[in-house]
Amino acid sequence: MNIVNDADDEWEWYIGQIFAQIIKNVYKGELKAVVEIAPGFRYKIAYALKEINFKGKIYIIDTSKEVLEYVNEKYSKILPNVEIICVNKSFEKSFNDIPDKFDLLLSNHCIDDMIIAEYMKNYSENLNSKEFKEILTKAWMSLGKNENQINEIINKIFDEFKEFFLSKEISTIIMSQYKSNLYFKDSFKEMDEITEKCFKKIKNLIEMNNEYLNKILDFFPFGDDERYRGEYLLNNTQNAKNWIVGKKIK
Ligand SMILES: C[S@@+](CC[C@H](N)C(=O)[O-])C[C@H]1O[C@@H](n2cnc3c(N)ncnc32)[C@H](O)[C@@H]1O
Repeated sequence: MNIVNDADDEWEWYIGQIFAQIIKNVYKGELKAVVEIAPGFRYKIAYALKEINFKGKIYIIDTSKEVLEYVNEKYSKILPNVEIICVNKSFEKSFNDIPDKFDLLLSNHCIDDMIIAEYMKNYSENLNSKEFKEILTKAWMSLGKNENQINEIINKIFDEFKEFFLSKEISTIIMSQYKSNLYFKDSFKEMDEITEKCFKKIKNLIEMNNEYLNKILDFFPFGDDERYRGEYLLNNTQNAKNWIVGKKIK
């Protein structure tokens, strides 16, 4: 398959190492079943699971059939001993396809895409097009002006996660939502501000130890490589405020 917005393999590996580091520290015991939400044309979670030598089953939920075809092929290569089960549904419609009890829920940077996909309705059709970034920026700017719709969408996505956490027994939930590159360009803040609001609401459903997580995140996957030791980066990707790690609050 020809992917227009191809992944940066080094970045995939880097974020994968952070997930692996968290899993190694917070999940004790044998991992059998994990669930991933919305990988897109990416494979950070595959690198994370390779790092921890995972050999169980992974359920992967994504609304795009093309994404799942890509992910199935890519993950099979990175994780030859893992059983991959693709669930081609939206998150809210996938609950019956996922076991009632599983070990890890994993997702990297899914909230912004879930929000804008809900707003655009035809998000998946555009996902692998050359104009995708432009289409997305326009959609975020338009959503950014509509306070009522922002709140409606945030509440809808929050309710989906709340219901999922209530209906499933999940040992550990690990989700990231660091700021996108666009955030650091002052002109376009809508996306990360709306996303942060939604992520914080979902985070309130989880019992979390931020201090402990920050200790876990204090490590350097690329050693002394200056490119991965900058303050902006570490404050963003390796900071507990941009992660959900823990169990649902009872
Ligand atoms: C760009 S990816 C997310 C980021 C990616 N995980 C990464 O590591 O860079 C977005 C994916 O979310 C999927 N998606 C959006 N809304 C969804 C929903 N409600 N349920 C399931 N998948 C969804 C899209 O089909 C797309 O493949």
